[in-house]
Formats: sequence, structure tokens, C-alpha cells
Amino acid sequence: MSKAFSGSNVVFSGIQATGAKQLGNYIGAMRQYVATQDEGEAFFCIVDLHSITADYDPQDLHDRTLDLAALLYAVGLDPKRCTLFLQSHVTAHAESAWLLSAVTGFGQLGRMTQFKEKGEGKEFVSAGLFTYPVLMAGDILLYQTDIVPVGDDQRQHVELARDIAQRFNARYGETFTIPRGVFPQVGARIMDLQEPTKKMSTSAGTPQGTVLILDEPDTIRKKFKTAVTDSGREVRYAPDEKPGVSNLIEILSVASGTSIPEVEAAYDGRGYGDLKGDVGEAVVTLFAPVKERYAELRADDGELRRLLSVGAEKARETAKPTLESMYERMGFVLR
Ligand code: AMP
Ligand code: TRP
Repeated sequence: MSKAFSGSNVVFSGIQATGAKQLGNYIGAMRQYVATQDEGEAFFCIVDLHSITADYDPQDLHDRTLDLAALLYAVGLDPKRCTLFLQSHVTAHAESAWLLSAVTGFGQLGRMTQFKEKGEGKEFVSAGLFTYPVLMAGDILLYQTDIVPVGDDQRQHVELARDIAQRFNARYGETFTIPRGVFPQVGARIMDLQEPTKKMSTSAGTPQGTVLILDEPDTIRKKFKTAVTDSGREVRYAPDEKPGVSNLIEILSVASGTSIPEVEAAYDGRGYGDLKGDVGEAVVTLFAPVKERYAELRADDGELRRLLSVGAEKARETAKPTLESMYERMGFVLR
């Protein structure tokens, strides 16, 4: 079972290579990655193999992969304190997905909400979109992971990974640590600024309601100024009743490092206009240094590739014994 939060945890998380990264990614996930680097041994994986499960452009995948590596270093991942690598550089990921498909129920995969949402109304739904969570389970389990920092939308996938691990352990003998998801207390689900009942997302959201980490400051300000709020003027945190305002309160709370009650108190009787202006400004301030570091890091392709290759080497070594145990316990004749 997982160890306590003790400083000796194995941390693992993955992030898709395609799609420009947005404020929800930062608040729900990247911010947690940075914080968990010192919890123990931390692995962060750019999940390029997952990116081919939906419509994508090969050149875009290629370029976005290096963009994302630079961005992750820019938000604060430190190559001395964590291992960042590309999923396709460590073949154990693809192999473990196949092996784990033996202990994953077809029915279980059909119940995944992400599969249903992403597949709905599409003319072509790839088999990869269906088996996506099995690849993700392999990502996590290969590292004997204790904690998985993710946003709320990945809750069901992490639960499935736990289930797969338990079924494998029961059938073939204790092989995997049972991982647990960790979700931020504030900001686990950042909503679209134009449609605050839907999560912020570059693939499914509105462009005007999605704040990109690398947006220009004026674009960020404008997106917040035109954010959809609710009727009334009361700045009160109540996600079900006032989704628009509550989303802005959460974002300001994270971006300015103040608690939700403090934000509510500060805007008591002031109305939405002030709140929107200040959230926009706080997010501009939050991302300004990230944007600057990103530009420096992205300019050096060679160094990015070198860091990723060091990361992949470390990941390969770490995953190897677990993959070997999987083959052995499942009855394969070893090489
Ligand atoms: P993706 O870019 O879909 O690979 O997501 C990477 C990480 O960002 C995952 O841990 C997601 O849960 C998290 N994430 C994505 N969108 C949001 C959002 N709107 N609010 C909070 N977390 C999010
Ligand atoms: N499915 C995750 C997402 O879309 C990305 C992911 C792939 C992941 N493998 C993972 C997250 C392993 C955590 C752990 O956001």
C-alpha cells in the first residue's frame, strides 16, 4: 500500500503533448508538480503516445512536444530535483499497456467519462481513445508510484489504475504499489470563462474563455474582463449557484496566494468589475516570469533534447525491473 506523505514518496504524473497549455493545466496540475518535486522521487512524463488517440497533426505533435518541455521547466520543474521525459523514449510504457490490457475490463473502459465525451459525435473514434486509460495505468504503475498529482478530470482514470494494479497483484502476485491521486484543494477544476459550467480546455472549451499560459498580457486581461459572471453583484463562493464568480474567486485565490474567505471579504460590496480586473492582473503577474523563462529555454533545442535524453535514461532504468517482473509473473519465457 502507499506510504504516508513522508518525503520518500514516488510521484508520477503525465501531461499531453498536444494542445496549448492553459490556466487550468497550471492551477490543477503543473503547480502541484512543482510542489511535489521534493516529496521524494518525482517523474513527470510528456505523454506523446497518448496524443495520437485523437485527431492530430504529426508536425504539430513534434513541435508541441519540445514547447511543452520548455514550458514545464519554465514553470519550475528542476532537472536536478525531478525526472522529465518523453513517454515514447521509454518503450516500457507501450509494452506495459499491452500486458495490463489482460487485466482491464472492456466494460470498465466503456464507462470512462473522458472516452464518452471525447468520442461523442465524432465520425471516427480510434481504438486508442478507448484503451487510453490502460496506457495511463502503465505509466503510473511502472514506477511503483505512491502519488499522482492531477486535476479533477483525471480522478476516474487514477481509480482505474488502482483497480488494474489490484487485479494484477491478486492474479499474478504482489507486483505494484497501489497509487493514489492527489488533487489541489483549490482549483482542481478551473472552468471556461465564457461557459463556467464547462471545464477550461483547449480542445473542448471556447477560445475566448480559455486563458493560455503563453497568452499576451493584454489578451489575458481582455479574457478576464469579458468573463461571464452570474446575475447579482455579490462576490460569494458558491460553485453550484454562482459558477462564474466562484471560478474567478478560485483563480484569484491561487494567483495571489490568499484564501477564498479573504478574497470574498476583500470584494464585499464592490461588485464584479473590480474582481475581473484584479484576477486578470494577478494572472498576468503570475505568468510574466514563466513567459520570460520559456522564451530563453525554448531557444535552445539542443539543451532541451539533452535534458530529455538524460530524463529518459533515468526513467528506463527505473521502469525496467517492474516491467521484467510483469513478464516473468505472467508466464513469459524471459530472454
Ligand atoms: P492534459 O493537458 O489534458 O494532459 O492535462 C494535464 C493536467 O492538467 C491533468 O492533470 C489535468 O487534470 C489538468 N487539467 C486540465 N484541465 C484542467 C482544468 N480546467 N482545471 C484543472 N486541472 C486541469
Ligand atoms: N490522461 C492524462 C490527461 O489527459 C495524462 C496522463 C497520461 C497522465 N498518463 C498519465 C496523468 C499518468 C497522470 C499519470 O491529463
